[in-house]
Amino acid sequence: MANRNIQQYGHVCRKRFLFSLSFAIILVLPYLFFWDYAGKPVVNHVLPKEKIFSVIENRGIPARDHDAEPSSFREPSFLDQFGATDEEPERCHPSKALLKVFMYDLPPEFHFGLLGWDGDGKSVWPDIQTKIPKYPGGLNLQHSLEYWLTLDLLSSRFPNRSGPCSAARVEDSREADVVFVPFFSSLSYNRHSKVKPPQTVSINKLLQQKLVQFLTAQQEWKRSGGRDHIIMAHHPNSMLDARSKLWPGMFVLADFGRYAPRVANVEKDVIAPYRHLIKTFVNDSSGFDERPTLLYFQGAIYRKDGGSIRQELFYLLRDEKDVHFSFGSVVANGINEASRGMHSAKFCLNIAGDTPSSNRLFDAIASHCVPVIISDDIELPYEDVLDYSKFCIFVRTSDAIREGFLIKLIRGVSREDWTRMWQRLKEVEGFFEFQYPSKKNDAIQMIWQAVARKVPAIRLKVHRSRRFSQFNTQR
Ligand SMILES: *[C@@H]1O[C@H](CO)[C@@H](O)[C@H](O)[C@H]1NC(C)=O
Ligand SMILES: *[C@@H]1O[C@H](CO)[C@@H](O)[C@H](O)[C@H]1NC(C)=O
Repeated sequence: MANRNIQQYGHVCRKRFLFSLSFAIILVLPYLFFWDYAGKPVVNHVLPKEKIFSVIENRGIPARDHDAEPSSFREPSFLDQFGATDEEPERCHPSKALLKVFMYDLPPEFHFGLLGWDGDGKSVWPDIQTKIPKYPGGLNLQHSLEYWLTLDLLSSRFPNRSGPCSAARVEDSREADVVFVPFFSSLSYNRHSKVKPPQTVSINKLLQQKLVQFLTAQQEWKRSGGRDHIIMAHHPNSMLDARSKLWPGMFVLADFGRYAPRVANVEKDVIAPYRHLIKTFVNDSSGFDERPTLLYFQGAIYRKDGGSIRQELFYLLRDEKDVHFSFGSVVANGINEASRGMHSAKFCLNIAGDTPSSNRLFDAIASHCVPVIISDDIELPYEDVLDYSKFCIFVRTSDAIREGFLIKLIRGVSREDWTRMWQRLKEVEGFFEFQYPSKKNDAIQMIWQAVARKVPAIRLKVHRSRRFSQFNTQR
């Protein structure tokens, strides 16, 4: 008995040592790259002179002597901090993944069943090597991260999978850093929140009830009090019933607009991007002079709560000849038209609506249209490593509604400053792309990395919670 305990202890120690080691490497890596940061511009590219990532800044690292550098010296892009940016195809090495993830084998009704996939009652997961069930299009796609993250985990152990993996699936939950709950809650809300007689509750509500029952009965949940569970709830109305029961876990959200601070907050949870609906501007050479529209807004003008600012701005800006307001959703107006509009604008307006966030910001990024964000309570994806002020303009609501303030500010941005932000948008756009298979530092990898950065805080909470339970529980 004692022996076994010692073995277990040794195992735990090794794991913790490896974990600490990888954590140390993550901390140190940016140092190595930023050391060289103030180097010479690269041939072929215009790279930013300042770093967008701000993990390690102003820590007294001496700047290098520029003149001493060899002429072939390549200034590292800020993307380099996670490793080489391109060229040799990266492979997934599950044993080296940043994050080890245990995923519950929930019945298909919680995930691919919602896409109409039916495993003939035999299997829980579709064979995605043969055929991948399609996620519904239109506005649904905004919140489709549930689908992409799940596909990424399912494929993480394929021997021939292309692309790197920040997260790898493990079969034994005791080896896992986090526990993933594969419930497509946004789709469940979008598709099944109406009660269809003779049913008396909606499928969306029913699934949430079943999920809470299932989770709270699992030994994985009991072991951590749910603190290491990852629960996706990207649509602001998804998980409306279950959130108050599952809140000890880590939510993956669009924003905190409809959450009580105790249930969800920036310390505990992860903010993830919307999937943009506008087409990515591939090979964009439309610089300052090729974008005739100064400021572009797409969206509903009249909103119930929090949206009165939109009307005020509309009245303030409607007489400006180069400001374009386009009413209605991107999908309703035609994606091609919206793409053209945003691709030919210098600045794109993002105003808080019913909730602090919207997919418009990510449409603007994909269009390389410099976002002007007027949303005092917005939270942004991966903001702990990404400095949005390098490619977005933030304006306080109280300033934006002052006569002439916004238009003067925007007209005052020089071609040089705008061009610098435009270049940076082209560099960061990949961080907001969802795709399968996932590629290096795309939205899927960035979300996993954001989760991984929360793991030490989760461990702290779990360990603290165990202080007094040592001799009361059977483990
Ligand atoms: C990986 O292998 C499976 C079967 O072994 C095959 O069906 C699939 O097409 C392969 N995928 C790639 C990307 O090569
Ligand atoms: C973008 O440019 C590359 C290289 O010049 C070219 O191969 C590709 O077809 C272009 N894509 C589009 C959509 O124009």
